[in-house]
Amino acid sequence: MFNLILFGPPGSGKGTQSEKIVERFGLIHLSTGNLLRQEIHDRTPLGLEAKNFMDKGQLVPDEVVIGMIDSCLEKHPEAKGFLFDGFPRTIAQAEALDKLLSLKKTSICKVLALEVTEDELVKRLLKRGETSGRSDDTDETVIRKRFHVYKSETEPVAEYYQNLNKLERVHGEGSVDDIFEKLSVCIQTEMAAKQSLSAQ
Ligand code: AP5
Ligand code: MG
Repeated sequence: MFNLILFGPPGSGKGTQSEKIVERFGLIHLSTGNLLRQEIHDRTPLGLEAKNFMDKGQLVPDEVVIGMIDSCLEKHPEAKGFLFDGFPRTIAQAEALDKLLSLKKTSICKVLALEVTEDELVKRLLKRGETSGRSDDTDETVIRKRFHVYKSETEPVAEYYQNLNKLERVHGEGSVDDIFEKLSVCIQTEMAAKQSLSAQ
């Protein structure tokens, strides 16, 4: 299996690039943000609980998102690989993901981290907030809170994968297509390396 994490702050383009990557490389897209918004839309108890956190720009509790990821992995036993978007966001989530994947005799191959300046991120999110209906995009205070949470709880996850030699940083500003081509080169290189290892 080829498992990838697309990492980066709110608004860095994880969702935008994930859609293109899964189409080109045939992976299953797992976005915890999208899964949570679906639960809210369906008015499930999980969705109602999650909304309280999301509207304030806080993280939803680890056990909730880990449980969601676990059941998604179970739903796709034949997957060629997964693309995780917006997960893991805490060290506890990263450790839980490692355990879940090792039960399936697989692991994370690569973490691609999109790097975008905070001014550009705020601009993108406020612009999207004009039309998206996402309650966490319309208020700049909530956007700033999301950045704060990212810095304190999520950035350490990059270091976690850096220590495992799996992190690659990619400049995330410029055209969507140019960024996609840069990400694609990283993925192709990693896939080729994995294939030549397994052929030995
Ligand atoms: P989530 O849905 O994951 O949101 P996020 O990480 O805050 O990031 P976004 O989805 O807003 O941005 P993105 O990086 O996907 O960028 P996008 O492609 O959309 O999480 C939402 C909330 O759910 C969290 O705050 C938390 O409460 C909860 N949650 C989710 N996962 C969780 C977890 N694992 N643990 C706990 N809680 C969790 O692009 C953004 C905008 O920029 C778009 O309008 C896009 O069109 C535009 N854009 C994209 N690329 C470019 C470009 N190159 N140039 C110009 N504009 C661009
Ligand atoms: Mg997203």
